[in-house]
Amino acid sequence: MSDELVIDDLHVSVEDKPIIKGLNLRIKQGEIHALMGPNGSGKSTLSNALMGHPHYDVDKGTVTFNGAPILELEPNERARLGLFLAFQYPTAIPGVTMANFLRMAVSSVRSENSNGSETTELIPMREFRRELRGKMKQLGVDESFARRYLNDGFSGGEKKRAEILQLAMLEPKVAILDETDSGLDIDAVRIVGESVNQLIGPNLGVLIITHYPRLLNYIRPEYVHVLLDGRIVESGGWELAELLEEKGYDPIREKYGIAATVPDTDGEAEESSAFRG
Ligand SMILES: Nc1ncnc2c1ncn2[C@@H]1O[C@H](COP(=O)(O)OP(=O)(O)OP(=O)(O)O)[C@@H](O)[C@H]1O
Ligand SMILES: [Mg+2]
Repeated sequence: MSDELVIDDLHVSVEDKPIIKGLNLRIKQGEIHALMGPNGSGKSTLSNALMGHPHYDVDKGTVTFNGAPILELEPNERARLGLFLAFQYPTAIPGVTMANFLRMAVSSVRSENSNGSETTELIPMREFRRELRGKMKQLGVDESFARRYLNDGFSGGEKKRAEILQLAMLEPKVAILDETDSGLDIDAVRIVGESVNQLIGPNLGVLIITHYPRLLNYIRPEYVHVLLDGRIVESGGWELAELLEEKGYDPIREKYGIAATVPDTDGEAEESSAFRG
C-alpha cells in the first residue's frame, strides 16, 4: 500500500493572523501535485506548518501520514516518517559542511531509534561517501559541493540544487518543493526539473509549489491546485496551470468572490491592498 498525506480542514495562523483557512489536500506516494497561488496566499505557511515549524500555529484540522496523526510530532519525527520540505529560502550554516550535514540528516532519518540528537548513530563513513558520490553524479552536482559549508555563499541556483541533493539522499515518501525554481536561470530550471524528474517514481509523492509552469514542463504534475485566500479553490489537471499562465488569478478570484486584497477582520485589509496592487 502506498503512503498518503491527508490534510483535512487545516487552519494555520502566524502571529495570531489566520493564513490557512480550511485547506484539504491528499497526496499519495507516487503522485505529482502542483500548488500555485499568488504571493502571500499561504503556500510557504502550509509547507512550514506541515513540517512543524514552531512559528506556525495549527488552530484547527488534522494532518495524517499513512493514517497516523502528525501534528503533534517534532519536525525530525515527521522527516523519519518520510516527509521532506525543500525550503523556499534555505538557511546557511557556516561551519557545517554539506557532507557532514547530510550524513547527520540521513543517519537521523534512517536509524531505528534516532531521537535527532548527537547520540544518533552515524552511518559508516565509507558507505555514506559512496552513496553521496553516486547521488551527486546522478544529479550532476560538482563533488566540491560536499566540502563546502551548507548554503554558505551558495548562489541561488546552488542552494536549490543543494536542496535537491538532500531530497535525493533522504529518499522521502512525500516531498514538498517550495519554489525550487525561483531565482534560477532558464538552464538551471531545466537542470533542477530534470533532477527532480530522475527522483520521481512510485515511491515518491511530490507537491511542487511554483509560480511558473516552466518548471512543470519538466515535472509534469497530474494534479494542479490553486491556493487563494488560504484555501484550495480549484483543482484540476495541466490545463489549469496553462489557464493561470494565460489569464492570471483574476478570473478565479472573480469566480469565488475573493478580492485581490485579503479581507481581514482587524482592519489590515487596506494596508495589504496597497502593497498587493
Ligand atoms: N514567519 C512569519 N512571520 C510573519 N508573517 C508571516 C510569517 N510567515 C508567513 N507570514 C505571512 O503569512 C502570509 C502568507 O505568507 P506565505 O509565505 O505563506 O505566502 P506564499 O504563498 O508562500 O507567498 P510567495 O508566493 O510570495 O512565496 C503573508 O502575509 C506573510 O507575511
Ligand atoms: Mg512562499
